Amino acid sequence: MTTNKDIYILAIESSCDETAAAVVKNGRTVLSNIISSQIDLHTLYGGVVPEIASRKHIEKINQVIEEAMKEAEVTMDDIDAIAVTYGPGLVGALLVGVSAAKALAFATGKPLVGVHHIEGHISANYIENLELEPPFMSLVVSGGHSHLVVVKDYGEYEIIGRTRDDAAGEAFDKVARAIGLGYPGGPKIDRVSKEGNPEAIKFPRAKVGENIYDFSFSGLKSAVLNYLNGAQMKGEEVNVPDVAASFQKAVTDVLVEHAIHGAKEYNFKKLAIAGGVASNSSLRAAMQAACDKAGIAFYHPSPIYCTDNAAMIGVAGYYEYIKGARHGWDLNAVPNLKLGER
Ligand code: KG4
Ligand code: ZN
Repeated sequence: MTTNKDIYILAIESSCDETAAAVVKNGRTVLSNIISSQIDLHTLYGGVVPEIASRKHIEKINQVIEEAMKEAEVTMDDIDAIAVTYGPGLVGALLVGVSAAKALAFATGKPLVGVHHIEGHISANYIENLELEPPFMSLVVSGGHSHLVVVKDYGEYEIIGRTRDDAAGEAFDKVARAIGLGYPGGPKIDRVSKEGNPEAIKFPRAKVGENIYDFSFSGLKSAVLNYLNGAQMKGEEVNVPDVAASFQKAVTDVLVEHAIHGAKEYNFKKLAIAGGVASNSSLRAAMQAACDKAGIAFYHPSPIYCTDNAAMIGVAGYYEYIKGARHGWDLNAVPNLKLGER
């Protein structure tokens, strides 16, 4: 079924607690997107347990790859390259995907393309926004990252702001645990916040030192914990939806302010959000309103492409592949891989 101009990428993602494989055609069309989530397993422990994640990836990886190929109705002959996340992430988890990709590439003689996980998250925006092309401003907010990134071109990035402490998703997860909502916190806070008043409690909007684009969420997290302790000591009942909504508003306000400020300063008329927290309904609404006001086009992936998936790796892998990026059999998992590094 392959014609000369169609390029098919088989992509693999295993950097955290999702074992995923996808087939992407010409960088923009997702033919399959299989995700085996371990969330139920890690919920027992209140967070991701790295050893359990690695073991589950090993159990699932071949199955999700087979399913992705089957659903896409392609065979190995159709595949032009194998793309895989090689960092950042949990080293043992990454290794499972990297090893599977190397084995497949070696056995089939296909090129191997290592992909940066954050490049994947940003690239998720290309799937449903066919008109979106670099350059643009991007806000990446996930469980492990909060970055304000200038996307100069495909595969070319400049990070202009980053978190000094907790990532946005991490703050959601920690606060959710503190107010008894459990893991994973983001979606749960999102849900209960709909019944709460975002103005009920005035939590701080973090200001951080010299770089106006940097983020800090640990002070906000402490403020929530202090509020809860204070209420407990006074014997007052805590209104969970109000705490959740007020916390969510504090995070959202800062993310929106930084992203809009960055887009304006750098003169971008396009802003794309990415990562698990980008599926937050309050963030999406607030960012949309702020972009409308500023005359900026706002892009965001559907929730399924916000949280970890392999389709986004297939998209990023495609752009790396057509630029000539290839990795050798020495490709290794790099847990703290920097964006733009090879
Ligand atoms: O991108 P992702 O799947 O994994 C990383 O690369 O880290 O992001 C997971 C994070 C978790 O912290 C989760 O709580 C958060 O994204 N998240 C959300 C929502 N859905 C997932 N945070 C806020 N609102 C949501 N709806
Ligand atoms: Zn991620």
